[in-house]
Amino acid sequence: MPAIIDQVVAITGASSGIGEATARLLAARGAAVVLGARRTDRLDRLAADLRAAGGRAVTRATDVTRREDLERLVDLATSEYGRLDVLVGNAGIARTGPVADLDVAGWTQMIDVNLVGVLHGIAAALPVFRRQGHGHLVTTVSTSGLKIVPTQAVYAATKNAVRTLLEGLRQESTDGVLRTTAVSPGYVRTELADWIDNAEVREQVRQDMERLAIAPEAVARAIAFAIEQPEDVEIGEIVIRPTVQG
Ligand SMILES: NC(=O)c1ccc[n+]([C@@H]2O[C@H](COP(=O)([O-])OP(=O)(O)OC[C@H]3O[C@@H](n4cnc5c(N)ncnc54)[C@H](OP(=O)(O)O)[C@@H]3O)[C@@H](O)[C@H]2O)c1
Repeated sequence: MPAIIDQVVAITGASSGIGEATARLLAARGAAVVLGARRTDRLDRLAADLRAAGGRAVTRATDVTRREDLERLVDLATSEYGRLDVLVGNAGIARTGPVADLDVAGWTQMIDVNLVGVLHGIAAALPVFRRQGHGHLVTTVSTSGLKIVPTQAVYAATKNAVRTLLEGLRQESTDGVLRTTAVSPGYVRTELADWIDNAEVREQVRQDMERLAIAPEAVARAIAFAIEQPEDVEIGEIVIRPTVQG
């Protein structure tokens, strides 16, 4: 699939799960990948793996709640590889639980990572995309925002805020420079549930993942599909869930 060869793709949340699988797939198909997350030991191991297999990969410690970290990640792409073709805004957390738990700290964290983190990526990448005359924002949202279920209200709200944001940006960007894609996975087998504070909800999500979830590579393939389209084709939304998920 020639369209991915030589693309420069920055990925946030590349240290595990969907971000890691996306990095592996795109690097194997010839993209230069620029990997951001907070756990730099994992990022460095991943980049070493990719380079050992003949791929091109660099890393930078990135906390998406810090605007300057996204700027440094985008700077790394342009200084190392000359441009940035795609930003995959994938970093996310799920501090799920009933609203009645009043987990204000968890809500704030989800808003900071899942929404403000994506905005920081847009703020860093958009000027580069405009200067280059092209660019693609791919963002991992969720089916949680499509079928609203108990315990996921605030998480779903952050994901739907991003969905709305991307559609608004798309409406403002019909000059052909920018493409936006919102990818909505259902249950995917990753570490996402490990960080849920509410023990009962964490156990339930782990069991659901065990029972239902698809591999992160499936989402990586969906992201690759959006990226490899010709410049005049924009895949706005992709919903990808286990066949057995209700
Ligand atoms: N798994 C699912 O069922 C599912 C379903 C729908 C949507 N999603 C979405 O998919 C995305 C990826 O999640 P995943 O399922 O692959 O889970 P994961 O394995 O836990 O990966 C989450 C990634 O986000 C990064 N991250 C978290 N907070 C960050 C921060 N402040 N700054 C930078 N990076 C941060 C983590 O890296 P560090 O901890 O190293 O920073 C990690 O690389 C998320 O947006 C999630 O909401 C997942």
